[in-house]
Amino acid sequence: MIENELMRILTGGWVAQATNVAARLGIPDALADGPRTAEDLAEALKVNQSALTRLLRLLAAAGILEGRGERFALTEMGALLRRDQLGPLAALYASDYFTASWAALEDNVATGEQGFHHVYGLPVFDYLAGEPDKAAEFNAGMAAGTLYFRRVPEKHDFSGARTVVDLAGGTGALLAQVLRAVPGARGVLFDVPEVIAAAGPHLEGLLDRCELVAGDLFAAVPDGGDVYMLSRVLHDWDDEQCAAILANCAKAMPAGARLLVIERVAGADALLPAAFDLHMMVMTDGRERTLPEYRALLGHAGLTIEYVTELPLGMSLLSAVLETT
Ligand SMILES: C[S@@+](CC[C@H](N)C(=O)[O-])C[C@H]1O[C@@H](n2cnc3c(N)ncnc32)[C@H](O)[C@@H]1O
Repeated sequence: MIENELMRILTGGWVAQATNVAARLGIPDALADGPRTAEDLAEALKVNQSALTRLLRLLAAAGILEGRGERFALTEMGALLRRDQLGPLAALYASDYFTASWAALEDNVATGEQGFHHVYGLPVFDYLAGEPDKAAEFNAGMAAGTLYFRRVPEKHDFSGARTVVDLAGGTGALLAQVLRAVPGARGVLFDVPEVIAAAGPHLEGLLDRCELVAGDLFAAVPDGGDVYMLSRVLHDWDDEQCAAILANCAKAMPAGARLLVIERVAGADALLPAAFDLHMMVMTDGRERTLPEYRALLGHAGLTIEYVTELPLGMSLLSAVLETT
């Protein structure tokens, strides 16, 4: 029935908020060893039992949990919300500055002013630089991309790579996956100083072949790599800012070097890229782009896309090579 479908859309935000709050509370991890009653869970998580029971019932109706008599168990989908899976990303989606920015969507659409900027008066990465706890939560949310990071070395042939440079690579979760799969390669992790300072844990055991470089994508990026990566970076910026980043990449890349752009390309599956496009509008100056738009952006910097391949979670890897003149 179409009206029921509409009601599902109208209340979808509540279901998402309930799911993301469950991740913040650690419910999926508390159920990892088997089903538990609401009473037992409330005691373990130190929350209100009656409110928790109502939250658990919604999660069960949504397919995140299943009721087994008095007890609740994780479904296969719910298990993906554990801390070592997508839990930190779900938790991030319920953070106060994400929800406050989305609450400003109406103003954003009316005026064109970015939701986050409308509420906080500065760009999101500048805000995170002054909020260490929120930055740690953001970095953990990004590192939860491991679900697709670990497929990157299967999708691109790194066999001849000597130096892999991960630009705006966060705390190094993607670079760690690549370095583990390519034992002969060195890595360079590049990000803003506060993020580089928090980079240690993912790179444990790899630091002897990894350089940590703090810098600004818009000033210059490390040169001399054979493979450069930009994962979920270009979608944070408008076309002009992307052109500046890509010009710096092209300047740093030796002839024949590869640039791997990892993004959610707008096109085939419309809903996720469109949702993230709006999210980028609300949080940043960026946007999700179609393949022809990426081709044009990269082409402008002298980079030609050689192939595009799919990754989990609706992500794509675009491999580009620097044209020789
Ligand atoms: C959306 S996160 C993506 C992180 C990582 N590449 C990934 O896929 O998980 C964007 C990253 O860009 C970094 N960043 C933002 N502005 C930057 C700048 N001007 N120079 C270098 N890094 C920057 C942020 O600190 C953050 O780690």
